[in-house]
Amino acid sequence: MTTPRKIIIDTDPGQDDAVALLLAFASPELEVLGVTSVAGNVPLPLTSRNALIVCELAGRSDAKVYAGCDAPLERKLVTAEHVHGKTGLDGPQLPDPKMALQDQHAVDFIIDTLRAEPAGTVTLCPLGPLTNIATAFRRAPDIVDRVQEVVLMGGAYFQVGNITPAAEFNIYVDPQAAEIVFASGVPLVVMGLDITHQALTTRPRVDAFRAMGTEPGRMVAEWTNFFERFDKEKYGSEGAPLHDPCVIAYLLEPDLFTGRHINVTIETQSELTMGMTVADWWRVTDRAPNAMFMGGVDADGFFTLLTDRIGRL
Ligand code: BDR
Ligand code: CA
Repeated sequence: MTTPRKIIIDTDPGQDDAVALLLAFASPELEVLGVTSVAGNVPLPLTSRNALIVCELAGRSDAKVYAGCDAPLERKLVTAEHVHGKTGLDGPQLPDPKMALQDQHAVDFIIDTLRAEPAGTVTLCPLGPLTNIATAFRRAPDIVDRVQEVVLMGGAYFQVGNITPAAEFNIYVDPQAAEIVFASGVPLVVMGLDITHQALTTRPRVDAFRAMGTEPGRMVAEWTNFFERFDKEKYGSEGAPLHDPCVIAYLLEPDLFTGRHINVTIETQSELTMGMTVADWWRVTDRAPNAMFMGGVDADGFFTLLTDRIGRL
């Protein structure tokens, strides 16, 4: 087998973040150098705790989890308990984590790792607001050129917004951070609502997780059951989008996704459209492309991959 791809997962678990972590740990093609937590779906103490719980659930108590920024760069933290519940991982009963957080701050870990590893060999996978990544880029601009790729969940064009009529949650929570990352020149792949809203958790797909008869399979089914209620009610859809695992699925099977290399600029001025990802999908400006912006996904292929991998845990 080829050498595993080295990744850092930056996350605010979140049930869909949790499934993304499980997918990464179940995949030998990936080496998770560290998990960094950020404030987002719930405040930082909870996202950090949830990250530890999920590592243990994956049987990876050797994983290193670093707590990061507890608030966006300039704005007040907005959380999403209305979607994810009070703990961020509401649904099944969860054990207290036995693992401890690393002493180092997540931002220092990201900077040190990118400087220590050969240039172009570490991929960043942000699954929450971009506060940790932007802080690292701002504090250590030399690391930007050393990143292999940033593959993130955030933004939307055709689906526009989920937390406001104009903005997707991860970008809305810290638009200033998103602006830094999108303007940094780093190779960027954007998995937004346009694709995640095509990858819905239908009944047979959720049943397949429960039928595994394993603890991770049961957790995925119960988490999905919990957060589905919100999206089903909101969109009248058969199930809920499983956002964050799309990032990890892209690393494993990029051909499941299609997109365009275009300019994406973040709205940071207007309160009405704050955090909007202004994507030049139709290439109507001469703004230089800065992101591979995904628009299509093979949803059956995605769930086949996810089910196969979670079944290995
Ligand atoms: C994103 O926001 C969070 O609620 C999810 O975990 C996902 O990362 C979707 O907008
Ligand atoms: Ca998330």
